[in-house]
Amino acid sequence: MIKAVIFDLDGVIVSTDELHYQSWKKIADDENIYFDKIINHKLRGVSRMDSLNIILGYASKTYSEDEKINLATNKNDIYVELLKQLDQKDILPNVVETLKGLKSKGIFIAIGSSSKNAKPILRRIGLIDMFDVIADGNDIKHSKPAPDVFLVAAERLGVNPNSCMVVEDAMAGIKAAKNAKMIAVAVSEAKNSEIADYRLDNLKDLLLII
Ligand code: G6P
Ligand code: MG
Repeated sequence: MIKAVIFDLDGVIVSTDELHYQSWKKIADDENIYFDKIINHKLRGVSRMDSLNIILGYASKTYSEDEKINLATNKNDIYVELLKQLDQKDILPNVVETLKGLKSKGIFIAIGSSSKNAKPILRRIGLIDMFDVIADGNDIKHSKPAPDVFLVAAERLGVNPNSCMVVEDAMAGIKAAKNAKMIAVAVSEAKNSEIADYRLDNLKDLLLII
């Protein structure tokens, strides 16, 4: 029986993809590295440093650890500046009614995000108080596809992983959910995943499968 639903944040609750893309694009352009929206999809659910390493895979030179830290810091400075434009209009369709519907069924709701900016983002879109638990990039060493962030969320909720459902838009996130032995629900870009347990066109269909 499902007792909790753990939501990924970026691309499931809120549309930050374009802001991540614009910030990485500026870094890549300054370094003369080819970067486009198809490469950007590979960064979904992947931590900041792992994302940078994917981008640097297209570079013609190698980068030292210090250079990498500088680039990741610069990307985050640009991203945090862009986040100032984020507000309730960036909440994705049907999110609020789905969260309310789950709560009215007595289901716990949590965030399981690789982002270290998860809390400021939730504050900006006015949803921080909706969630029973928030687990994010600050709580873990290994990001998705490792199961860690979802296991932290389950532990804080006091719910067994096998009673948790995860909603994800990233292949890495679906793998992380399965690695955590949770039920994986794919939306958006993850819908091609073969290992997802459910694939939804509309988030509010979650209320039909619980
Ligand atoms: C989310 C996004 C990724 C991003 C990661 C880290 O999972 O989907 O694209 O790289 O968070 O975000 P951060 O805000 O910590 O740089
Ligand atoms: Mg995502």
